[in-house]
Amino acid sequence: MHTGYELDKGTQAITPPIFRATTYHQADPWNPPPYDYARSGNPTRHAFEAAMAELEQGTVGLAFSSGMAALTAALMLLSQGDHLIVTRDCQGGTQRVLRGIFSRFGIQISYVDTEDYHALAHALKPQTRAILIENFSNPFLHVTDIPKVSQWAHANDLWVMVDNTFITPYLQNPLTQGADLVIHSATKMIGGHSDITAGIAVAKDSDLGQQLYFIQNACGAVLSPDDSYMSLRGLHTLPIRMDQAQRTAQKLARVLQDHPRVEHVYYPGLSTHPGHEIAQQTMRGFGQMLTIRVKDATWVPDVAHHLQLARVGAGFGGTETILSLPELHCHAALTIDERRERNITPDIIRISVGLEADEDLIADIVQALDRAEA
Ligand SMILES: Cc1ncc(COP(=O)(O)O)c(C=O)c1O
Repeated sequence: MHTGYELDKGTQAITPPIFRATTYHQADPWNPPPYDYARSGNPTRHAFEAAMAELEQGTVGLAFSSGMAALTAALMLLSQGDHLIVTRDCQGGTQRVLRGIFSRFGIQISYVDTEDYHALAHALKPQTRAILIENFSNPFLHVTDIPKVSQWAHANDLWVMVDNTFITPYLQNPLTQGADLVIHSATKMIGGHSDITAGIAVAKDSDLGQQLYFIQNACGAVLSPDDSYMSLRGLHTLPIRMDQAQRTAQKLARVLQDHPRVEHVYYPGLSTHPGHEIAQQTMRGFGQMLTIRVKDATWVPDVAHHLQLARVGAGFGGTETILSLPELHCHAALTIDERRERNITPDIIRISVGLEADEDLIADIVQALDRAEA
């Protein structure tokens, strides 16, 4: 609630002013003031950045114009010839930017199941410089053991970067578990209302933070003052939203597990999930995301059409429940072969649980499944 912002000195306003100025008068240009130009620094953005740095227990927080901008800035820490290990089951946008852009700049990439310790060791090369872990992974919610993998990575002189969008700083703080950098798409749970596009990266130590600040300022994909304000506002209710949504997610997962039309439920809160114990040990909850595989892919269009409360589309982490079809939405950027290789098939539905009353939401999804016809 109170991180990142001291009461405004002039007015005592309890929420931060939105500073839209792009430049500042310099009465003594040889001793420049703390803010001189908006790309380089903005007080409203700084309030969000400071809040996130404190929540993640890092030293430097940097806010970007989207989650992809934050991820791209982090990837720019790499140099030509470096090798990067990436969670295999990661969102399509990460794979698109790596394949379409960073590989052109000579970054080598290996997709690995980062929850599989032996696969990680096998992927290591002399040029490996960093590991980018998506936790939970998308869409199958694999759980990587951040403390264990960080220990291994540091023994091999690698940076550990964690995209913790699915979990949020409320449920896990990777920097306290050995990671060097944590990244979020604040478009999702942090913004929390499906109405801003934003990203944030927080570095554990100030040296890495300064390298990332150089990239932020040099490349310029900064978060706008208005969206910085909205991100900070979203943060204020993150715990209560997350508490309610994950309670409903847990109930929904149990109901769907017993539904005759559901082949499999992927939710780390179920004791049958392979990452359940690691999640219990390293996180403070299981989150609001779950994925199901239905028994017949031809039912999926009917399920989508019959929903009365939940929405269908891309994105997640808002107050409304959203069902996404990875084939069409979060993994559309992959080729069909890449999707099949990752087990992403048309029978998969990812569910971002929102804040509807749990009995209403569960009834809605169950009736849509019941009524689906091939
Ligand atoms: C895990 C994860 N990281 C990063 C991003 C990119 O965020 P944005 O859409 O804000 O650019 C997404 C987008 O869905 C995501 O799911």
